[in-house]
Amino acid sequence: MRPDLRGTMRTFATGVCIATTYRDTPDGRRHDAVTVNSLGSISLDPPLVSLCFNRESTFLADLLASRHWAVSILPAGAQEIARRLARPSAARAAHVNELVTRTGERSGALILAGTSWLECGVREQFELGDHTLVVGEVLAAGHDARQPTLVFVHGGYHAVLDQRTTAVELSGPGHWGEAL
Ligand SMILES: Cc1cc2nc3c(=O)[nH]c(=O)nc-3n(C[C@H](O)[C@H](O)[C@H](O)COP(=O)(O)O)c2cc1C
Repeated sequence: MRPDLRGTMRTFATGVCIATTYRDTPDGRRHDAVTVNSLGSISLDPPLVSLCFNRESTFLADLLASRHWAVSILPAGAQEIARRLARPSAARAAHVNELVTRTGERSGALILAGTSWLECGVREQFELGDHTLVVGEVLAAGHDARQPTLVFVHGGYHAVLDQRTTAVELSGPGHWGEAL
């Protein structure tokens, strides 16, 4: 019997990030942004982090072509942005243009206003099962500790309100393997 990996991982709370990258086309630079919760911290010296993408992801193809990406860690209240940017690329394109962003100086990727963020260059990539693990060298970083953080667990979005770890339910159920 296959282990119920998804069932177990649903109980593991993560932050929620928007990963950004771009593709240069004859019509100019086209930015993309997608919701991810696979951000991992690997090494401080040198500074390395990782993201993990479905191998079929169109965002991943753009990231591996540009070799650069950024992640913006969403604050509580930003769950609507997370939901919109978890849709397929054609459906999220309009939402990417509505985001309040600036262009990262080191990566060229978009950084969302009011977030903690990292800019990265691709250092390594590993094909692992049905996913690709991308290891990024951190080129620049900034943080905004004033805001409570958005948390994803049991298929729903929550807010960590203070250091006593009070969490509130912000949404109904929904898992990124299911329709949102
Ligand atoms: C909370 C949350 C976390 C997600 N994390 C990841 C992730 O780490 N890696 C991934 O490939 N997709 C993740 N997804 C799914 C993507 O947001 C998106 O649906 C998918 O990448 C779209 O595929 P595309 O790049 O081909 O358009 C997540 C979705 C949600 C709602």
